[in-house]
Amino acid sequence: MIDIDKSLEIAKDAALLAGKFLISANNDAQKILVDDGRDIKLQIDQDAENLITEYISTRSNLPILGEEFGHKGNLGSAFWVIDPLDGTSNYFRNIPICAVSIALMHNNEPILGVINDFFSENLYFASKEKGAFVNNKRITVSNISEHSKGTIVTGIPSKKEYSKEYFSRMIDDFKCWKKVRMIGSAAIANTFVAAGKAEIYREEGIFLWDIAAGAIIVKEAGGKISMSTADNKFRLDAEFTNGKV
Ligand code: IPD
Ligand code: CA
Repeated sequence: MIDIDKSLEIAKDAALLAGKFLISANNDAQKILVDDGRDIKLQIDQDAENLITEYISTRSNLPILGEEFGHKGNLGSAFWVIDPLDGTSNYFRNIPICAVSIALMHNNEPILGVINDFFSENLYFASKEKGAFVNNKRITVSNISEHSKGTIVTGIPSKKEYSKEYFSRMIDDFKCWKKVRMIGSAAIANTFVAAGKAEIYREEGIFLWDIAAGAIIVKEAGGKISMSTADNKFRLDAEFTNGKV
């Protein structure tokens, strides 16, 4: 039996702890571990994941899947999903659009999620059937129903093939929307939809840790989420909307 309220408190505290750590180290020279093609990984990604994993694992027996260290053993039907720093490139380049993202999965769906937008001091969270909040204030999706009045927030995953066909499909879709935003953090993009600042988030080939917390936050804010089944590397296609566009 999972105690959702207790688990949510654990996730919030872990996300706040990691956020403080990431802010305190933001002006330090960052050690680069991988700078390959369009991917960048920093030592601080790993340090933040270790901090979160240590915090959670001393308070919960559930297995953990993290972006940096994967998982140990079988995940089973209930497990934590951690992105210690979503928007690593933004963080590295001093663009203050990045977040800590922590979710708890049960039977293939996120049942709680926390996104710490630490540069803005906004802590987003939600748990199943209990609504979505930012800093304890309830949030809801927008009421915009026409594509021509709506904003799409999207991204191009670093491991995506950069083919003409892929971009041409993307541009065709862009033409339907009033505004297009690509902000470099799927988690923050998800908070935009949940808080009514954008109408749709869509990304193909995104990783589960990038969007698991965002999915439940959007859903609990009144939105509609759709996610394909993740492959063996935890990649999937995701579309989260306000449920009206
Ligand atoms: C990235 C961001 C970005 C998305 C990439 C992700 P990371 O996460 O979420 O918005 O387009 O696919 O990999 O690597 O900064 O945690
Ligand atoms: Ca990350």
